[in-house]
Amino acid sequence: MASAPTSTFSAKAHPSPRPSAITLRAPISPHSLTLPLPRRHASAFPTLIIHSRTLVVSATATEMPQKAKGFVDEMRAVAMRLHTRDQAKEGQKEPQGQPVAKWEPTIQGYLKFLVDSKLVYDTLDSILHKAPYQWYAEFWNTGLERSESLAKDLEWFKEQGHIIPAPSPPGLSYARYLEELSEKDPQAFICHFYNIYFAHTAGGRMIGKKVAEKLLDNKELEFYQWEGNLSQLLQNVREKINQVSNSWSREEKDHCLEETEKSFKYSGEILRLILS
Ligand code: HEM
Repeated sequence: MASAPTSTFSAKAHPSPRPSAITLRAPISPHSLTLPLPRRHASAFPTLIIHSRTLVVSATATEMPQKAKGFVDEMRAVAMRLHTRDQAKEGQKEPQGQPVAKWEPTIQGYLKFLVDSKLVYDTLDSILHKAPYQWYAEFWNTGLERSESLAKDLEWFKEQGHIIPAPSPPGLSYARYLEELSEKDPQAFICHFYNIYFAHTAGGRMIGKKVAEKLLDNKELEFYQWEGNLSQLLQNVREKINQVSNSWSREEKDHCLEETEKSFKYSGEILRLILS
C-alpha cells in the first residue's frame, strides 16, 4: 500500500457573517493532473503562504458556496483547494505537468484506468452493503453507482478486440485501503466515498470527454452516463452526508476533512494510469 502522507489539518465550523478560518496544512506533492480552466480573479484568492514543505491555505466563510449549508460544503471546499489552479477555478495548487487537454492517452492506459476504477467502485459497493456501521446503508442505491456501467464499457472494449488487463497496483492499493478504513475509520471512509463519486461527475467527466475525442471517436462510455437527473442524484447524496454527519463531533468532522488529501493521492494515481 502507498505510504500515507503526513498532514495536519484544522477547520472550524463557519458561522457567518464573521469570517472563520479554515486552515489546511498539507505537504506539497507532485500533481500532474491539470486542465486549463478560467482562473479565479487574484483578489478573490484566500491567503496562500508557502513554507518550505508546507502549504498553508486560509479561507473565509464568505468564500464557502452560498446555496447549500452543511458539512458537505466543508468537504467540497477542502477538495476544491486541493485542485491545481488550472484544474478548477477554486483550485489553489500550482499547475504541474501537462494539462488534461494536452494529455496523450493510450487505449492500454485508459483500459487500466477503467479496470482499476471498476475495482474501486465494486469495493465501495461491497463495503456499503456489508455495512460494518448501520448508517452505511443510507448510501445504498444512490444512482451514482458505476460498477455496472463500467462492466458494460469493458465488455464493449473486449468486443472491439482489446484485451482487458487485470487490476494494477494503484487500484489494488486503493481497494485495500478502503476496506481497512471502512471498518476502523468510518468518517475517513465517507470522505473517500464523497470524493470518488463527486470527482467523477466533475473532472472525471471532463477527462472522459477529452479521452473519447482522442481515442474513441467521441464515443460516450456508459461510465459517464447516469440514469435520471444527475444534479438531483448528487443533491440527494449531499443531503444524506449532511444528515449522517449531524451526529459527528467536530473532531470527527475535522478528521473526515483531513482525509481528503489521501483521496486525491489515491485517485490521482489511478487517473495517471490513463497516460501509462
Ligand atoms: C485532472 C484531474 C481533475 C480535474 C481536471 C478536476 C476538475 C474539477 C472541476 C472542474 C470541478 C468542478 C468545479 C466547480 O464546481 O466549479 C471539480 C470538482 C470536484 N473535484 Fe475535481 N478534478 C480533478 C481531480 C480530482 C480528484 C483526484 C478529486 C478527488 C479524488 C477531485 C474531487 C473533486 C470534488 C469533490 C469536486 C466537487 C464536486 C461537486 O461539488 O459536485 N477532483 N473537479
